[in-house]
Amino acid sequence: MKVGVIGTGYVGLVLGAGLSESGNHVVCGDIDERKIALLNAGGIPIYEPGLDDLVERNRAKGRLSFTTDIPALVRESTVLFIAVGTPPQEDGSADLAHVLACARTIARNMDAYRLIVVKSTVPVGTCDRVKAEVAQHTTQPFDVASNPEFLKEGDAVHDMMKPDRIVLGTDTDRAKALLEETYAPFVRTGNPVLFMDVRSSEMTKYASNAMLATRISFMNEVARLCDVVGADVDAVRRGMGADPRIGSKFLFSGVGYGGSCFPKDVKALVATGLEHGVPMRLLEAVEAVNAEQKKLLVEKVVALYGEDLTGRRFAVWGLAFKPNTDDMREAPAIEIIRGLTARGATVLAYDPVAVANAREALAGTSGLTFVDDDLACLEGADALLLVTEWGEFRQPDFDQVKALMRHPVILDGRNIYNPARMKELGFTYLGIGRA
Ligand SMILES: NC(=O)c1ccc[n+]([C@@H]2O[C@H](COP(=O)([O-])OP(=O)(O)OC[C@H]3O[C@@H](n4cnc5c(N)ncnc54)[C@H](O)[C@@H]3O)[C@@H](O)[C@H]2O)c1
Repeated sequence: MKVGVIGTGYVGLVLGAGLSESGNHVVCGDIDERKIALLNAGGIPIYEPGLDDLVERNRAKGRLSFTTDIPALVRESTVLFIAVGTPPQEDGSADLAHVLACARTIARNMDAYRLIVVKSTVPVGTCDRVKAEVAQHTTQPFDVASNPEFLKEGDAVHDMMKPDRIVLGTDTDRAKALLEETYAPFVRTGNPVLFMDVRSSEMTKYASNAMLATRISFMNEVARLCDVVGADVDAVRRGMGADPRIGSKFLFSGVGYGGSCFPKDVKALVATGLEHGVPMRLLEAVEAVNAEQKKLLVEKVVALYGEDLTGRRFAVWGLAFKPNTDDMREAPAIEIIRGLTARGATVLAYDPVAVANAREALAGTSGLTFVDDDLACLEGADALLLVTEWGEFRQPDFDQVKALMRHPVILDGRNIYNPARMKELGFTYLGIGRA
């Protein structure tokens, strides 16, 4: 099948590479000339485990190519995926300008039937808007389908090749048959392909992310209470998670959720609710709890050392919003580092892959230095703040860690260390909700 993917970001690049792996001819397009030049030169613009091999193998076979010529991509492909960004606007609602621009480009350049598949996360009703936009600019036949993306950054290649489920919103048999054929190689073990109406498909994506964000904020709120009543949220988590009605996944408390999806998707669903006169009170609270949670580590530092942190020095381990990605969008580390430096502290920060993006996200932050070694951060530090739970932080040489620091204080923003063991080793240990 000839497939075009418009928008070659985290979603579009993984999708394009995955579809080419099953033998399709895929052209990935983007308006970002630097990104396409880098891809054409054999580079990969993002850190995503396993993606470089997948891209390189299929590029070498001639099944995967990259272009800025979107009109040519439209002419060459039967199935067109839209995978461009849908960033939040001032009021929290999703900005659909890029999606609708793609719709116009497709309409103006299609010369026969096209199946247009909206992969971007879009509010209910967007596929209808895309349909109307395309119809205004072409007389050719076409279908518009919704196919929300559920990949997890850091595990995106696996999620593409072996998805838990595929959600497809279609309203014609032709679109359904084409999408069934496109995804058949990825669901051979029987994982469900869920066909539904377009609006339900669009809503499924937001409802899924809103539920995951809710679990995080719920556990973060429980953790705050644990801190003051003398309970350990990690024990509570295990006790709760053993109930199959609750399940053990996504019950970790920490420094708040970040990334390119949860914050914007929760806001967008709240905005959709307001637009339709259905206030999403639970999600408003989820967002408010998360905003508070991002401040918690700095509050703990202030409780230890006071509001004025002049002359204090802190080590930060982990900058990306989660491990195995270089994505810094809405990463809690940004607010934490700004909170420390704004109070006069100096910060030495380390992340295995996200430093380049962190430099951009934290540009102009005085008192901040990036280092390329986890131990180099620690010299003379008044505390170590563990912000992202990369595997390499799980079992450091604690004697060495302690020897390097001015004060042996660990603020564990992801609860990855054992409090009793930390105490034994001579650290002052503060987790999230661990009394
Ligand atoms: N990143 C994730 O983990 C993830 C997961 C599921 C869903 N999504 C959703 O998928 C969509 C894309 O997310 P992303 O993280 O890949 O974004 P991204 O910012 O990494 O990539 C979007 C790309 O689209 C390009 N673009 C914008 N306008 C364009 C146009 N008119 N023509 C061609 N290219 C254009 C941009 O240059 C950029 O490279 C969003 O709606 C997001 O909410 C993202």
